[in-house]
Amino acid sequence: MIKLNYRNTDAMVIGKENGLNLKEEFAQYKDTITKIIANLNQRKDKPGQWLQWMNLGYNEETVWYVKEFASMVKGKFDNILVLGIGGSALGGIAVTEALLKPYWNLLTPEQRNGLPRIFFLDNIDPDTINGLLQVLDLKRTLVNVITKSGSTAETMSQYMIIKNLLEKELGDDYRKNIVATTDKKTGVLRQLADQEGYKTFVVPDDVGGRFSVFSAVGLVPFALVGLDIDQIMNGIKDMDLALKNTDINENIAAQGALIQYLMDTKMGKNLSVMMPYSSRLKYVSDWYVQLWAESLGKEVNNNGEKVNVGPTPIKALGATDQHSQIQLYNEGPNDKIITFIRVENFDTTLEIPRIFDYTGIGYLGGKTINDLINAEADSTRVALADYSRPTMTISLERIDEYNVAQLLYMLEVQTAIAGELYNINTFNQPGVEQAKNYTYALMGRAGYEESAQTLQSKMATV
Ligand code: PA5
Repeated sequence: MIKLNYRNTDAMVIGKENGLNLKEEFAQYKDTITKIIANLNQRKDKPGQWLQWMNLGYNEETVWYVKEFASMVKGKFDNILVLGIGGSALGGIAVTEALLKPYWNLLTPEQRNGLPRIFFLDNIDPDTINGLLQVLDLKRTLVNVITKSGSTAETMSQYMIIKNLLEKELGDDYRKNIVATTDKKTGVLRQLADQEGYKTFVVPDDVGGRFSVFSAVGLVPFALVGLDIDQIMNGIKDMDLALKNTDINENIAAQGALIQYLMDTKMGKNLSVMMPYSSRLKYVSDWYVQLWAESLGKEVNNNGEKVNVGPTPIKALGATDQHSQIQLYNEGPNDKIITFIRVENFDTTLEIPRIFDYTGIGYLGGKTINDLINAEADSTRVALADYSRPTMTISLERIDEYNVAQLLYMLEVQTAIAGELYNINTFNQPGVEQAKNYTYALMGRAGYEESAQTLQSKMATV
């Protein structure tokens, strides 16, 4: 199981001004946390609660269909191209970057065991889209278009460009190159997929985008590139069982949530940094940033009062950002809590040869890069504690399906518990809508004519 070490958030380590009296806080919040966890588990099956993501580890039927589809198309495509944005892409990127061999798309087919390369288009930069289309043979590409709403402008505009090209190249056969993941009944993509006869997978009801990585949204691309989705399920199930424990002293998601909440609301540390010491986990930070920001940044609380809460998440990468952000983290405003992710065993042990005897670098010879990266993680943590900066460390035994699934699921539960502590709706995102509506207006979508007028007059001055 993954572990959480929160010692460096305690006043005994970093001092009273910046640290928490954890013994006292855990005792004080014991009942609240027990109620929150029990309540989340009671509510999870009720429609409209947006908690179905807590059941995804047990969704054997979807796993079966996904595996069947992956084996049916095995060997037929050289590339998987995922179209999606936000919650429909970030989990897929985080998990494939973590679990596929590094530089997967540059390996030969033999080195990839005949499995396809994978690309995610999660933005609408025309140069990037065009650039990718120049290098992909669309005839040999399976396009997985993912959108829960079925009408997200970024995703659907990409889909329209690519569908058009596919049809030109393949005629009616183009349908075999598209698989759609969307709502089971509603939305334009559902309508289109049914009309055109695409293979489809369902984004289950009551699973929001940023909590959808373990639904078909993530599982389809994972299975297509050969990841072991049974082990992913095992990781979630074991973590889910552990996190059903309502005792704050035994539940790492509750500990992480409470500490982050108190650091923000009581100690003024309203920036939450996620810093894995592993390049393979770099995109877990991107996924976490969306999860934490969209879930916790809210204008009103559950009582309808205006509160404008939410810690600001920041991504960083160890050891790279020691040479970029750590100066600020050590000596700048003491307004952050940093979560490190540490990998105990890397797949590779890379020895540094003893080839130089210079005082400045000779000591490195005979050590491993593995020793170096973990020594840097330890030194940074201790240095931050010297400066009275709070940090926590999540440790993974290794980077594999089981551990990465545990990590992501734990962070999802931590977010849900934090949302309850802030007393906000963790699962909505009203703040995203305003700009979306303005975009529809600017692009001439029917029904948005009034917004377009307001927007035109505002754009002259804003
Ligand atoms: O987390 C969310 O709900 C959002 O980030 C969505 O995933 C994102 O806006 C994409 O939405 P959709 O899947 O409907 O295209």
